[in-house]
Amino acid sequence: MQDRPLLNRRLEGFSTTIFAEMSALAARTGAINLGQGFPDTDGPAQIAEAAARAVMDGRGNQYPPGQGVPELRQAVAEHQRRWYGLSFDPDGEVLVTAGATEAIAASMLALLEPGDEVIAFEPFYDSYAACIAMAGAERVPLTLRAPDFRPDLDALADAIGPRTRLLLLNSPHNPTGMVLTREELTAIAELAVARDLLVVTDEVYEHLAYDREHLPLSALPGMRERTVSISSAAKTFSFTGWKVGWLTASAELVAAVRTAKQFLTYVNAGPFQYAVAEALRLPEGYFAELRADLRAKRDLLSAGLADAGFEVYRPQGTYFVTTDIAPLGERDGFAFCRALPERCGLVAVPNAVFYDDPDAGRTQVRFAFCKRKDVLEAAVDRLGGL
Ligand SMILES: Cc1ncc(COP(=O)(O)O)c(C=O)c1O
Repeated sequence: MQDRPLLNRRLEGFSTTIFAEMSALAARTGAINLGQGFPDTDGPAQIAEAAARAVMDGRGNQYPPGQGVPELRQAVAEHQRRWYGLSFDPDGEVLVTAGATEAIAASMLALLEPGDEVIAFEPFYDSYAACIAMAGAERVPLTLRAPDFRPDLDALADAIGPRTRLLLLNSPHNPTGMVLTREELTAIAELAVARDLLVVTDEVYEHLAYDREHLPLSALPGMRERTVSISSAAKTFSFTGWKVGWLTASAELVAAVRTAKQFLTYVNAGPFQYAVAEALRLPEGYFAELRADLRAKRDLLSAGLADAGFEVYRPQGTYFVTTDIAPLGERDGFAFCRALPERCGLVAVPNAVFYDDPDAGRTQVRFAFCKRKDVLEAAVDRLGGL
């Protein structure tokens, strides 16, 4: 064996995710798992049936086209028009990916050179740091601070330097639940145009904004030609295991990202792509019901956490609620989360894993509320035992 570490230096420190550790802890202890963000109920039966039908009808069982099946690309383009008034050519401006995760990875690998800087708001979703690292680029975190986690736009302007290539944005934001306002998006767009930056937007929670509407950055002046907008079927349709995602962008940006994507998975989830095309065309009532259901669950779990003594940062979007455990006399989210299954039969995630600056989120803990109502009621009951 050669005398050097097997894992390359770029991936040092990324070996295990907290979600695997916490989900294993939940399985071992029988605790209710409010750690990882997956629903405990599948999406609409008619969409599951559409997937089964596609398999049985022999649609998508062999390699689908590299950019995604035409039905899904068309449905994505229609979705962008129906919800946001944006028009994208399904033939050159839409790319289907293996979840949002691959869209993010392919975008970073395609658009970055070693030494480029990427600005992202921390806490950030865990794949961002790893994908930026795999591309050999450097991340520049800007910290969103409690209690409202609004972005500091002056700090953003100051952080942009000669090596800044790209902004990587996520709204509605996991884990804080922050949803960017029109004013914030406008200011970010003006900076991107003035400083000639590319922007990649992770909008997987686009239909889970409760207190204000989600607005895609690419709708703002000057942004269409510089923005890659990413979403996925995971959160909107409660099929996280299907790994069907997509992105919309200019033909030039799509061509660049597709170049990287074709050597990652080439294609995936053939039959599921037909089913997701059908899902994207569901009537507005489906989306309204999903949002109303999760809003009620947000309120249920938030109230339970507040009653148990947590400081609760009420999320404006996503299906996560970030809390602070300092009022409980706790100092460390990791220790708290590792002990929580024993103490009251619950699993949560320490937000410190989402920060480069470990002190910034040391006492924050995230709970997912994309679970059945009876499960959340049981969780609230157990919180009473703290
Ligand atoms: C912010 C964010 N982006 C991307 C993803 C991954 O999406 P997908 O399952 O479609 O790859 C998640 C899943 O938790 C997420 O929270």
